[in-house]
Amino acid sequence: MSQKIYLYPMWIRLWHALNAILIILLIISGVSMQYTNPANPFIRFDIAVTMHNISGMILTANYMIFLIGTFITPNGKYYKLSFKGLFARLIKQFTYYTFGIFKHERPPFPVTKESKFNPLQQFTYVIAMFVLVPIVIITGWALLYPEVVLTKFFSGSGIKVNDFIHVIIGFFVSFFMFVHIYFCTIGATFVSNFKSMINGFHESH
Ligand code: HEM
Repeated sequence: MSQKIYLYPMWIRLWHALNAILIILLIISGVSMQYTNPANPFIRFDIAVTMHNISGMILTANYMIFLIGTFITPNGKYYKLSFKGLFARLIKQFTYYTFGIFKHERPPFPVTKESKFNPLQQFTYVIAMFVLVPIVIITGWALLYPEVVLTKFFSGSGIKVNDFIHVIIGFFVSFFMFVHIYFCTIGATFVSNFKSMINGFHESH
């Protein structure tokens, strides 16, 4: 018998939908600016720049909503990472994903109202939302206002270092998103986690 728990309030669902759309637009425009042939661009360069800048600005405002919402609502408790025994918990969840799941074992950290994320989800969400996304946002704004960036960083250009960090961490966020979507397919059914982000209810076996 499947069981449903209300875990994703409306504000999280709206934040998440906008966040996902903006990150996709940022990846498309970012990759277009970086890799396409200027003579035959995927998206015309000036259009890609405008698309990237506007999406980045809206993403910043949306990120503030996530940050404030997470601090002032009970959702914050799910992001409190406890370092004690963390490695063992991560290994346990990883072993479940690589072996246990194929043997139809019960999940080692079942979803409850008190703990909606398994250790791997919690760890990756904390890294994505409190390390990677803020770095991309800060370095992105710094590229928009290069006069605030150190012009010399050791002997090199501060702007180049800033740009390098923006691109590398942006790549990690893209990588996170693909892995995240893959793991979201591992639910009660292939689509049940995606449905949760629409109706708010998590479904477990
Ligand atoms: C098309 C792209 C995306 C899809 C289809 C998607 C799908 C989902 C689904 C199904 C969930 C609910 C299951 C769960 O809690 O693990 C979820 C939660 C979450 N996603 Fe995504 N996601 C996408 C993009 C992103 C991106 C780009 C980020 C961050 C950079 C992100 C961050 C999160 C976070 C932090 C949660 C937990 C929210 C909470 O309950 O507090 N997602 N996502």
